[in-house]
Amino acid sequence: MFDIHSHIIYGVDDGSRSIEESIQLIEMDIKQGVTDIIATPHYYVDHPSDPDRILRRLEALQKQLREQGLDKGIRLYPGNEVLWFESMAEKLSSGEILPLGNTRFTLVEFYPEESWETILRAVRKLRNAGWRPIIAHAERFFALRTAPKGEQSRFSELISQGAYIQLSTDPFGGGFFDSTSRFCKTAVKNDEVHFLGTDMHRPDRRPPVWTAAVNYIEKKADRPDALLQKNAERMMRNEDFIW
Ligand SMILES: [Fe+2]
Repeated sequence: MFDIHSHIIYGVDDGSRSIEESIQLIEMDIKQGVTDIIATPHYYVDHPSDPDRILRRLEALQKQLREQGLDKGIRLYPGNEVLWFESMAEKLSSGEILPLGNTRFTLVEFYPEESWETILRAVRKLRNAGWRPIIAHAERFFALRTAPKGEQSRFSELISQGAYIQLSTDPFGGGFFDSTSRFCKTAVKNDEVHFLGTDMHRPDRRPPVWTAAVNYIEKKADRPDALLQKNAERMMRNEDFIW
């Protein structure tokens, strides 16, 4: 399984604070069946991350895992999770923002209350600049939760504009009365989800959780394999596979 959203690079954002915590997080993911993790430290326009530092720490992490005999064949890739801003595409082109695993795919987030118009414009702008936007934890944005009566869902509208959808794994553990959980499950049933990510931060804060998501997807998704593995493999081959 692929975890395309994580904060495992230590000391660069509000995720892992040390190499030990990073290793703990990676081990927790591996134990649940993950084989590939994309590291996606936050990038904010007024608090940009340093791509060289990310790459150096990713390498240090890989080395440490190998030396401690803990790597279990895990593959780690660099990336960023970017809070949308108007010149994001330029910063991707200049190399200041890391796309996912050196592909044309980029993980973009918004403020929870961001308007539908802004989200739509962001997708179009990134696409026009040749990038493939993946909406990070897409269940979080109020503007995407409901569409005006008679219109297609916001996810399917975004997909038709060239966006990919990533959901978090943890809401799948919620029950029927949890509206976020219901929303995520409906999106899976409607085949409007391309990727999953744990968005793991620290072993004691947002640890990775997979069981409920995997169980649900294996039972209810049309193509569980695509969601858990194949789409991410296609992304890593830089294939533009949107349907
Ligand atoms: Fe995140």
